[in-house]
Amino acid sequence: MNTNDRRSLQGKRILLIIGGGIAAYKSLDLIRRLRERGAEVRVVMTQAAQEFVTPLSAGAIAGGHVYVDLFDWRTEFDIGHIRLARDTNLVVVAPATADLMAKIAGGHADDIASTVLLAIDKPVLLAPAMNPHMWSNAATRRNLAQLVADGVTVVGPNAGEMAEQGEAGIGRMAEPLEIVAAVESRLAARHETAGSLSGRRVLVTAGPTHEAIDPVRYIANRSSGKQGFAIARAAAAAGADVTLVTGPVPLADPPAVTVIRVESAREMLAEVDRALPADVAVFAAAVADWRVAEPGAQKLKKGAGGTPKLDLVENPDILATVAHGKSKRPLLVIGFAAETEHVINNARAKLDRKGCDWIVANDVSPATGIMGGDRNSVHLVTRDGVESWPNEDKQTVADKLIARIAVTLAAAAK
Ligand code: CTP
Repeated sequence: MNTNDRRSLQGKRILLIIGGGIAAYKSLDLIRRLRERGAEVRVVMTQAAQEFVTPLSAGAIAGGHVYVDLFDWRTEFDIGHIRLARDTNLVVVAPATADLMAKIAGGHADDIASTVLLAIDKPVLLAPAMNPHMWSNAATRRNLAQLVADGVTVVGPNAGEMAEQGEAGIGRMAEPLEIVAAVESRLAARHETAGSLSGRRVLVTAGPTHEAIDPVRYIANRSSGKQGFAIARAAAAAGADVTLVTGPVPLADPPAVTVIRVESAREMLAEVDRALPADVAVFAAAVADWRVAEPGAQKLKKGAGGTPKLDLVENPDILATVAHGKSKRPLLVIGFAAETEHVINNARAKLDRKGCDWIVANDVSPATGIMGGDRNSVHLVTRDGVESWPNEDKQTVADKLIARIAVTLAAAAK
């Protein structure tokens, strides 16, 4: 689906929350663009937003009442803030100001916008807009990381001139058509997944593993766990019974997922084995290939002995063990391939070597920013060929993968 498809949002109900920033004027155009594509748009405005655009103009373009007050009896009589949250397919916050992001990340509910956002169980898309210094401020970075970990998706901000003279940098709100494209892609994946995995068991691995050198040091890698957590969240949203076995990462448990936290590759294998059988297993973890043969029982000290010699031994390959398993092999076994060169050829070789059904391959060379970042560009390698997906946020990649899994399982069941 794309923005050329004129009725791509037919039948969809979008709740647009307009925050208080100069970019609010672009949100009026966004309302028009969403409606052109068939969406019904309901609008909530914060107090600050009303300093930039009026509820009257937003309401005229949206073709309906604009919600501005949590305690307005007319609003509550008309629909009520809880129903505003329920009767919607997706929420767009545009512009998402630094203050609104902080409120959502902190779970505040002191006006109609934040209360609806706290009550929402549907996808939330933020289009941040703020001064570049506010965007790069440590508090905003922290709030953004928390929001992404909670499954919120983000479009923009873009680089460019700010409204204030002489200010430039990253902070301009994404253009209305970019926001529309993000809405379409988020809803397309969601629409296909809703309930599609009910009754299915899905096992996901995520994160790095830590392999002890001594009681205080370990070998690890740069995996953030974000992609695996997003897959677990998407599978649970599709109705599956999900177990997530993860290495050490500072991410909160996704809702309705059984999360098992481990340290080492061997612990991960043991927990994966315990979580089987499953219909689908997705191995998104970046398992350490080696561990130290004999980790020190005490902290290794510098000294006369010179540099310590670390003997490494290979860790069990969890994916290959499960994919080659005789009794408990899931119907669909999916591996990831983190590559820094020859991405597709290496992924094809991995598909054969590991005995899995699909490989989700990504280029993790430092320039891509994928390892640890919030976006991903993947190639889905199956025995039928290779599909290259566009660069998207990790939650959208996860939703699409789950949609694909659901279609494949349904076809296999016929
Ligand atoms: N994997 C695993 N257990 C391991 C190593 C990898 O389960 N001990 C899984 C990963 O979760 C991923 C896939 O195998 O799904 C490929 O991981 P990757 O690190 O790309 O491949 P390696 O097997 O480690 O191969 P190489 O390091 O040579 O690229």
